[in-house]
Amino acid sequence: MHLRLLILSWLTGPALGLNATELIQGYFGNDSPWYADRIPIFESSASDIQDVYYYRWNIFRAHQRDLGSDGYISTEFLNDVGWQTQPSALLIDAANMHLREGRWCRDRRFKDDYKNFLFGPNKNPYQFSESMADGAWQGYLVDGVADTITGLLDTMQEVYNGWNSTMTIGGYDTSKNLYWIQPLTDATEYTIASIDASGGYDGFGGGYAFRPSINSYQYANALAISNIASLTGDEDLAEQYKDKAAAIKTVVQETLWNSTFEHFIDRFHVDNENVTYWDFIRGRELVGYVPWTHDLPDDTEEFAQAWKHLLDSEKLAGSHGLRTNEPSYEYFMRQYRYEGDKRECQWNGPAWPYQTTQTLAALANLLDHYNNATEANIISKADYTNILKQYAQLHYNQNRGGILDLEEDYDADTGLPIVGLTRSPHYFHSGFIDLVLSGFVGIRPRADDKLEINPAADGNSISYFRAEKIIYHGHEVAVQWDASGDRYGEKGLIVEVDGNKAANSDELARLTVDIPRQTPASVERPIALSVQQSPTGEYPVGKVSVTDDTNTDAIHAAIDGRVWFFPESDIANGWDTPAGNGSEIWYQIDFENSTKMQSAEIAFFANSTQEIDAPSDYRIQTSQSGQWEDVSNGKFDKILENGITKASWDAVSSESIRLYFTPKDGRKARLVELKVF
Ligand SMILES: *[C@@H]1O[C@H](CO)[C@@H](O)[C@H](O)[C@H]1NC(C)=O
Ligand SMILES: *[C@@H]1O[C@H](CO)[C@@H](O)[C@H](O)[C@H]1NC(C)=O
Ligand SMILES: *[C@@H]1O[C@H](CO)[C@@H](O)[C@H](O)[C@H]1NC(C)=O
Ligand SMILES: *[C@@H]1O[C@H](CO)[C@@H](O)[C@H](O)[C@H]1NC(C)=O
Ligand SMILES: *[C@@H]1O[C@H](CO)[C@@H](O)[C@H](O)[C@H]1NC(C)=O
Ligand SMILES: *[C@@H]1O[C@H](CO)[C@@H](O)[C@H](O)[C@H]1NC(C)=O
Ligand SMILES: *[C@@H]1O[C@H](CO)[C@@H](O)[C@H](O)[C@H]1NC(C)=O
Ligand SMILES: *[C@@H]1O[C@H](CO)[C@@H](O)[C@H](O)[C@H]1NC(C)=O
Repeated sequence: MHLRLLILSWLTGPALGLNATELIQGYFGNDSPWYADRIPIFESSASDIQDVYYYRWNIFRAHQRDLGSDGYISTEFLNDVGWQTQPSALLIDAANMHLREGRWCRDRRFKDDYKNFLFGPNKNPYQFSESMADGAWQGYLVDGVADTITGLLDTMQEVYNGWNSTMTIGGYDTSKNLYWIQPLTDATEYTIASIDASGGYDGFGGGYAFRPSINSYQYANALAISNIASLTGDEDLAEQYKDKAAAIKTVVQETLWNSTFEHFIDRFHVDNENVTYWDFIRGRELVGYVPWTHDLPDDTEEFAQAWKHLLDSEKLAGSHGLRTNEPSYEYFMRQYRYEGDKRECQWNGPAWPYQTTQTLAALANLLDHYNNATEANIISKADYTNILKQYAQLHYNQNRGGILDLEEDYDADTGLPIVGLTRSPHYFHSGFIDLVLSGFVGIRPRADDKLEINPAADGNSISYFRAEKIIYHGHEVAVQWDASGDRYGEKGLIVEVDGNKAANSDELARLTVDIPRQTPASVERPIALSVQQSPTGEYPVGKVSVTDDTNTDAIHAAIDGRVWFFPESDIANGWDTPAGNGSEIWYQIDFENSTKMQSAEIAFFANSTQEIDAPSDYRIQTSQSGQWEDVSNGKFDKILENGITKASWDAVSSESIRLYFTPKDGRKARLVELKVF
């Protein structure tokens, strides 16, 4: 048994938690230092949920793109794609999920930088439908730090109101008091609306519809703005946005609920020879649960019926995942779009981690604070746990030998990924960490000075879990469940605050603890001077000693602010040297102007089957009046392959810096990233 936990006496001393060092080392190897103080630790008798929890932190880390002085953002694809915002690679459709994952990171920098970027001068808020203000608010509920969010209030309103004007991709219909959007711009091409608007002929674009998604997003954004306005003491503004939210809620309930289908479904905004404005679409879609993701619907017997379809194998429940629409739909799973001979993304049936995330977040809300569905035994914690496990299983890519590799979408009846393009591995377009911590473990973040725990984990099938090193409102929180007492020496559910037991229960039930907020440790924001977002050769620019290397994209990749060590060649990241022959190689960064430098973080990849190895040593020089000179008092850490090697020296100013190293004989080296500070 590798995990020992000793709970000492409740009164005399703090509990001893899991062995974080051992868990992190086991999951992350040489890259462990990145995670060590950044992630909450989790274990569970459901080993798939546990393994995927750590894999999802690997995805989170891999998608943190350092934009230098623009801070960090979360990317969606590891490879660049044609429809991203250049040069940052921003795609906002999953920003709410990125922020909900990031709110559990102990290092607040990532979500804070990201929300500043999303609402900053380089924003692109109408790239897709969005719930960014809500995502920012959800982060505040965990950290409790108001001043990182109140400054965004004006821009949040500006973005919110921009959805009012009629754009080509979506807008607000004043005759219906509802938002409409093109499914493609809702991040969900080939829905019933877009396929049927084309007469079953296509469905990539078009199909403008009043959708449960965008209206729920604007509902959530309005409430977020209202709540943030309250934090600033602007009660008039708070009231104004509360009213906007209430108005959306009323109209969604009155007009997007289809009582025949017992589901929230789209109505057409498009009016053409194939479909008619304001008609309902002709089937159920998984997007119909998004209203609960944002707590929009009232708790009624009627709306509770929607949850029956989620568990029905002839409707939305595939044997390996949740279908995006139902087999009864005429064009269910018809493949329209290919890239070469590979099937492209579609939302006419495949299981999508994106909407699975929304649905599980919705279900966690339903189980937590809606009564009708559970009282009528429509759906239960056992279902939450089973669907979360089913979702965890999708992360094991059966087309790649069952390794952990999440891709875009899946056949819900086989569990096999559909797309499999070079851009596909380790796709960050969904959440999981948040579903574990706010759902399964049940930390229900609140704005007031309470810590509320209500696990959606099923006590009959989950014999134990423990989550710890969670920072909530400035305190260290742990939540532990042990059905028998055999795992941790104490039976039941226990909540610890700052190492002391604060509440307990024999059952997986709700526990609420008073927790006066504390200011958490301040965030450190070192700015990498070397990062170049654009591959077009602007300063700072990378250069290599191998004069016949013309792969400027690969040379740029070593300063592009992206770091990961996944071995798949499709997503190789960095500059590869020629195979070593004993001669020294250098990678140089030119800054254009004199730049003061004093440390570096160097990332080398290694994989023996690919004959790529880290070099065994390195040195650093800067250019001084045209001469290359060693930095003085250099402290050079030993090279860590697939991890970060740190170096520091006496601060020195120069226009250029060089990293010299000698690849091992017959082996290439790959410089993933060279960051200079
Ligand atoms: C944690 O695990 C490591 C590695 O197995 C071990 O060296 C260390 O003693 C353990 N720490 C505790 C507190 O048990
Ligand atoms: C309506 O459906 C037909 C038959 O598929 C298709 O050819 C036509 O382009 C569709 N009309 C529009 C406006 O998409
Ligand atoms: C914007 O939307 C609100 C509903 O949130 C509506 O009351 C208002 O009239 C709209 N304003 C404009 C200028 O369209
Ligand atoms: C629900 O939608 C279907 C299909 O579009 C439609 O035939 C039916 O009349 C709708 N039900 C209600 C109560 O409007
Ligand atoms: C169920 O919904 C009805 C309205 O349909 C509501 O009055 C009632 O309070 C709800 N029941 C529970 C147990 O919450
Ligand atoms: C170098 O300095 C010039 C003049 O101040 C400035 O215009 C330019 O942007 C600087 N270059 C970089 C890469 O910062
Ligand atoms: C050794 O490697 C260096 C760097 O790749 C290359 O420039 C040189 O030509 C190689 N020498 C021989 C003898 O192959
Ligand atoms: C090395 O790369 C291969 C793919 O070329 C991969 O199958 C293998 O898992 C990698 N090894 C490690 C230790 O990551």
